[in-house]
Amino acid sequence: MVTRQVPKPSELFELMKFKKPQLNAKKRRLDAALTINDLRTIAKRRTPKAAFDYTDGSAEDEISLARARQAFLDVEFSPSILRGLSDTVDTSTEIFGGPSALPFAIAPTGFTRLMQTEGETAGAAAAAAAGIPFTLSTLGTTSIEKVKEANPNGRNWFQLYVMREREISYDLAQRAAKAGFDTLFFTVDTPVAGARLRDKRNGFSIPPQLNPGTIVNAIPRPWWWWDFLTTPKLEFASLSSTGGTVGELLNAAMDPTISFDDLAVIRDLFPGKIVVKGVQNVADSKKLVDLGVDGIVLSNHGGRQLDRAPVPFHLLPEVVREVGNDTEIAIDTGIMSGADIVASIALGAKFTLVGRAYLYGLMAGGREGVDRMIHILRDQIERTMKLLGVATLQELAPTHVTQLQRLIPRRTA
Ligand SMILES: Cc1cc2nc3c(=O)[nH]c(=O)nc-3n(C[C@H](O)[C@H](O)[C@H](O)COP(=O)(O)O)c2cc1C
Repeated sequence: MVTRQVPKPSELFELMKFKKPQLNAKKRRLDAALTINDLRTIAKRRTPKAAFDYTDGSAEDEISLARARQAFLDVEFSPSILRGLSDTVDTSTEIFGGPSALPFAIAPTGFTRLMQTEGETAGAAAAAAAGIPFTLSTLGTTSIEKVKEANPNGRNWFQLYVMREREISYDLAQRAAKAGFDTLFFTVDTPVAGARLRDKRNGFSIPPQLNPGTIVNAIPRPWWWWDFLTTPKLEFASLSSTGGTVGELLNAAMDPTISFDDLAVIRDLFPGKIVVKGVQNVADSKKLVDLGVDGIVLSNHGGRQLDRAPVPFHLLPEVVREVGNDTEIAIDTGIMSGADIVASIALGAKFTLVGRAYLYGLMAGGREGVDRMIHILRDQIERTMKLLGVATLQELAPTHVTQLQRLIPRRTA
């Protein structure tokens, strides 16, 4: 039997606590995003298909990216209990000779103003506010000097493609050093451009061409087009080639003849730290350590180059075991959550980079969208650490992580 009573008006009023409506539509939209996937959904709604697909897609059958994300989904955490934690955890770390408030940085991405007109300026300013490093790509759409202006006191990193015309690359490295960029990422997984089939199917080119398909697609996305047409022309800030299909542009920037010899030249040119990005096996990691690099990034370029490439997260434990004491190891590809970052640090990565997570935030809401991306990842990192029973990143250990698929023995190189 249920006992019933007449509701009292005062009790009803208690229940009726309406929140003040958020009148700022952008803030309302971004506050509703609780995960990076939520930001991706907003980004997709607001960005023309060709630009969204350029960001979201990867190479060939997109297997590299799917596997990299699956590897993170296959993480099982093992928490420690009753660790007498305080209310806060320390997420700060030292990487490549300097500090970062969080164990991730914004990865270098080309064509960034195409995704949303604020582009790298939004990324660099958000990184400055959060105390994390920002990386500018050789194919960036904002100049080295403008990025410095957006992040004047924080850490800026420069990503270098060693191009056919070596002098252009060397000049860029020197310009970045002059502007106070403290670390250079030499990207090595791009002897040629990967086959981004979505771009081919979309007929994607820079600048975007208007045809019946793009016009229909533009109708529900007027703000992107408004931004595109009313802000400075989309250009590569550091390169002279300005137009063509993405494949043509990338192939112009990349050179299949680059070799280990180029590393020595860059080393002499750039006074800061030299990190090689796109390392994909133990043998190359060892060779790079012998050549004296300051760090390596285990990465397959977000799955945008070689499809069916090794999953960086799977490679991590072995590379850490072999060279972890001799160099600093960072990792990227597939990171969509703070938990992915925590798992990477637990398995010995010193640091991580996020590419698409940043760009989804940018497309969802410019600078505020990138702030939201950082907020979501920070929140997830802090909560995961607390639930694991650790107060600092240094306390994270391989015993906190089981890779479920890795229980099956794999062929070793
Ligand atoms: C749209 C886009 C453009 C990129 N451009 C570059 C680039 O110019 N140079 C580079 O070294 N890496 C580039 N990358 C790769 C990223 O630096 C990073 O390795 C990758 O995005 C990590 O994977 P994630 O997107 O899953 O985080 C790009 C990635 C994306 C998504």
